[in-house]
Amino acid sequence: MKVLVVFDHPRRDSFCGGVLDRFTAGLKAAGHVPEIADLRAEGFDPRLPPADEPDWDDGSKRYSDVVLQEQERISRNEALAFIFPIWWWSFPATTKGWIDRVWNNGWAYGDKKLPHAKALLIGTASGDEAGYLKRHYDEAMRVQLVTGIMHYCGIPDARLEFFYDVMQSADHRADLLKRAEELGRGF
Ligand SMILES: Cc1cc2nc3c(=O)[nH]c(=O)nc-3n(C[C@H](O)[C@H](O)[C@H](O)COP(=O)(O)O)c2cc1C
Repeated sequence: MKVLVVFDHPRRDSFCGGVLDRFTAGLKAAGHVPEIADLRAEGFDPRLPPADEPDWDDGSKRYSDVVLQEQERISRNEALAFIFPIWWWSFPATTKGWIDRVWNNGWAYGDKKLPHAKALLIGTASGDEAGYLKRHYDEAMRVQLVTGIMHYCGIPDARLEFFYDVMQSADHRADLLKRAEELGRGF
């Protein structure tokens, strides 16, 4: 499967960057073909300009060239993955703005939906699982990101994996990197 892997972190050499490396290694080992969208390194502007505002009366509006290029990159892949640090119980702003601008009316929702069968979201967290469960952050994020965005835009098989407690220890991080590779292999 061709998989667009959307990566959003200020540093490629971060722990998240390590998750990206191991996840894509797992994808390749399983015969998939990953394409990486490193939104920060590419300088994607997450602010939605007037050119990319939806026209609610025109589902076939032509969006900016930047958005058309991003839509083309999504379209040439069959599945999606997102690797990101959880910032304030959500995607970081660049991924959020990428969705705001690119997953637009008439293309990802409205008259047309995304054709992708599958999306996997991997979020790294400094919080531990008990804290997430206690305050229902996991559930809140699943409703918002999986139901509210992935399902809403037509991707039926979507799931959010939490990599909790990443500051805990080097051993724990090594386990999580192993898990990232398994997720790639099992994609
Ligand atoms: C702006 C910001 C907001 C954050 N919000 C959360 C949060 O809501 N929940 C959480 O568990 N961790 C939060 N964190 C911690 C990050 O998730 C953590 O630093 C990251 O997953 C570690 O991966 P990295 O070393 O690759 O950056 C936040 C960090 C920053 C910088």
